Amino acid sequence: MKANIVTLPGDGIGPEIVTSAVNILKEIAKIYNHDFSFEEHLIGGAAIDATGNPLPKQTLLACQKADAVLLGAVGGPKWAHLSNVRPEQGLLALRKALNLFANIRPIHTYDALLSLSSLKEEKIKGVDFIFVRELTGGAYFGKKTRTEKTATDETLYTVEEIERVSRKAFELAHTRRKHLTSVDKANVLETSRLWRETISQVAQDYPDVKLEHQLVDSMAMMLLINPAHYDVIVTENLFGDILTDECAALSGSLGLLPSASLGKESIGLYEPIHGSAPDIAGKNIANPIGTILSVSLLLQYSLGLVNEAIQIEKAVNLLTQHGPLTADLGGNAYTTEITKAVINNLHR
Ligand code: NAI
Ligand code: MG
Repeated sequence: MKANIVTLPGDGIGPEIVTSAVNILKEIAKIYNHDFSFEEHLIGGAAIDATGNPLPKQTLLACQKADAVLLGAVGGPKWAHLSNVRPEQGLLALRKALNLFANIRPIHTYDALLSLSSLKEEKIKGVDFIFVRELTGGAYFGKKTRTEKTATDETLYTVEEIERVSRKAFELAHTRRKHLTSVDKANVLETSRLWRETISQVAQDYPDVKLEHQLVDSMAMMLLINPAHYDVIVTENLFGDILTDECAALSGSLGLLPSASLGKESIGLYEPIHGSAPDIAGKNIANPIGTILSVSLLLQYSLGLVNEAIQIEKAVNLLTQHGPLTADLGGNAYTTEITKAVINNLHR
């Protein structure tokens, strides 16, 4: 298969982890006879330094033409003093321009790494769910007002916005254990009542998937009490922002977790969930696994290469069992050593 992949290394550890993940993709191309081409572009702080704009026109045009986009991370103290332009604006503008309304985060615990979690091992053993967060609507994009003594943030959702993200979640659940949990606050919020009505309607098109509703406050508790219960979870932007950070704590290290942002078309944006980690940038010690697993998602969701995606997951699983590991996982290996080990594991 031929595919054109745009890479956006960005700032901090971004270039190191993207290089690692691209090497994994190149090895996959070799093993499975694919023709992947890579085109690198600027985003975030690096783009501000070079052009004054966190999302240069050239970058956006390249992304719009690509089959998939792989991002490292953006931001850092170097740009914190700027008041009129921020690195993060580049990422928000890109998600918006590509209309990526569904943020997908698989949360998976590894048997060999259970002791790293802040929860008891028996609670998180076997945790394997996918969180689907609505990404382009709700309070973060609503009308805002401010006077000296009052402030408002409008939460607006349309049926269409709820429907499209619900369908993504049902489709994922359909390929997995066929269990979807929709999170809302329908006992209090009108947008949540519309959310519940709409997703219940969409459910009729997926009769094999069991839909359950959970209120967001009790969900925050259930994720700690019985995380292994969940298969696919879907919710609105604000609730999703908070709950996905809670989910990240289940796995033990930020450095392990990948994400995909998807829209109606097959093009997606793939990135680890962590930031640019300026404290460890340039030292060849960042954990590249979150980015490597992001390319596994890229192969699966944008290119439909499921076997190749599974091969990467298996290679990572072997790595967690036999090492080497980076410092965040209790080891002392360099980023480049992890890359080599994963490449070796791809052949096992
Ligand atoms: P961060 O995720 O960059 O780092 C938090 C802690 O985790 C740090 O101690 C860091 O060294 C460690 N860490 C993160 N990724 C790691 C990895 N792959 N391997 C080993 N250790 C890792 O979050 P922080 O420090 O709050 O933000 C730093 C910068 O990143 C800020 O400018 C922030 O705005 C930006 N950021 C960017 C994101 C993005 O591009 N999507 C997301 C979150 C933050
Ligand atoms: Mg957040």
